[in-house]
Amino acid sequence: MRFDILTLFPAIFPGYLGQSLLKKGIDAGLIDVQLHDIRCWSRDKHHKVDDRPFGGGPGMILQVEPVVECVEAVQQIAQPHGMQPGHLVMLSPRGRTLNQQIVEELAAKPRLLLLCGRYEGFDERVFEILQPDEISIGDYVLNGGEVAAMTVIDAVIRLIPGVLGDEESSQHDSFSSSNLSSGNSSSGNRLLEFPQYSRPREFRGHEVPEVLVSGNHEQIARWRREQSYLQTRKRRLDLLNGSRNQTTADNSDNADSNQ
Ligand code: 6GU
Repeated sequence: MRFDILTLFPAIFPGYLGQSLLKKGIDAGLIDVQLHDIRCWSRDKHHKVDDRPFGGGPGMILQVEPVVECVEAVQQIAQPHGMQPGHLVMLSPRGRTLNQQIVEELAAKPRLLLLCGRYEGFDERVFEILQPDEISIGDYVLNGGEVAAMTVIDAVIRLIPGVLGDEESSQHDSFSSSNLSSGNSSSGNRLLEFPQYSRPREFRGHEVPEVLVSGNHEQIARWRREQSYLQTRKRRLDLLNGSRNQTTADNSDNADSNQ
């Protein structure tokens, strides 16, 4: 899968790109990430890409020409090699909020262009002309789209076949559509992970639950299913209810005392 990151701050990325799963995926040829500095498409001799808003007000606006021309150039770069223009994602706090379903949708594309904003935002004509898929990573304000772009990449690469080893399969990830709860899968329930333990069996009086060292795989599987359900009910009741608002049993009537 190919990612093209369009940003005013390409230097933010190399540390992240050089680590862990992403590095392994890049080295294995499963992932290709290219950085593009929007400033290179500036029409200004000082490489300026922002200007004051018409009508007045604080802050600076990313100008329409360098942004549109940068996106168009990046879309065309790889076309001689038979690569598609790519699905254009703009990281923006006014976009649809990222969740695992959207991650799955993005992971199905062969190429993503991730356009990162900064300052007070883009000239509105960027949206009119490019009609990007606007994505936000939550209801809070970041200084720019770069961290959000890394979030998208981090979540998407888990779903690219071969990036995770077999033993770390993403099928069982919380929120994954392949992890729908058995009882009511049509409503798309997604459960949180069950608790995990490793050695030692006891630390400061806290013991590993007996069932996990029992060797009884049927009982272990049942315990884990129950724990997933209980953890979800306690922490994220909204996931069980299919509701969009995050609620927990802790702030509702039927608080669960069972952990
Ligand atoms: Cl994608 N960008 C910015 N600037 N703030 C955000 C965001 C994106 N997602 C949540 N907050």
